[in-house]
Amino acid sequence: MDGFPLAPDEIRILTGDDAQRALGAALAAALPPGSVLFLEGELGAGKTTLTQGLVAALGFTDTVTSPTYALMHVYPTPGGQVLHVDAYRVRDVAELYEMDLDELVAGSRVSVIEWGEGLYADWPDAPVLRLEHVDTAGDVRRVTRRR
Ligand SMILES: Nc1ncnc2c1ncn2[C@@H]1O[C@H](COP(=O)(O)OP(=O)(O)OP(=O)(O)O)[C@@H](O)[C@H]1O
Ligand SMILES: [Mg+2]
Repeated sequence: MDGFPLAPDEIRILTGDDAQRALGAALAAALPPGSVLFLEGELGAGKTTLTQGLVAALGFTDTVTSPTYALMHVYPTPGGQVLHVDAYRVRDVAELYEMDLDELVAGSRVSVIEWGEGLYADWPDAPVLRLEHVDTAGDVRRVTRRR
């Protein structure tokens, strides 16, 4: 993927929300229409903040929240629809496909899927980013491109 902000296996330290959002914005610019971005990361690792930056870069200024309970959020940005999925509580990815995941992804500018390991094989070209807290340094996050 040309212009993708992180090479495979690259690790980046992001200090503060603005840096986290800036990575999201760079991803929005790099990902072609219809693409999927997988995010992994424990509670508070910065998944929503990164997604906020991605969605804002496409021109949508309303609040972006975690789709923990809804499973999916759809943001109608001026740059196209963004699908935001949290698969953490999904036991079987069949549940997501029953919710028309394929069609939703195909109709979206970008789909951000949190905790979607069960879908990795179905989207072999989609990048996977792991977000983590860094215990030794202040309030920063570490991002690793795992695929
Ligand atoms: N790079 C960063 N540096 C410092 N703080 C950050 C960074 N990225 C996000 N944060 C802060 O960390 C907190 C959690 O971020 P966020 O809600 O994006 O995490 P999350 O992974 O979506 O969490 P959850 O799993 O609870 O939905 C927020 O207060 C946010 O402002
Ligand atoms: Mg969140």
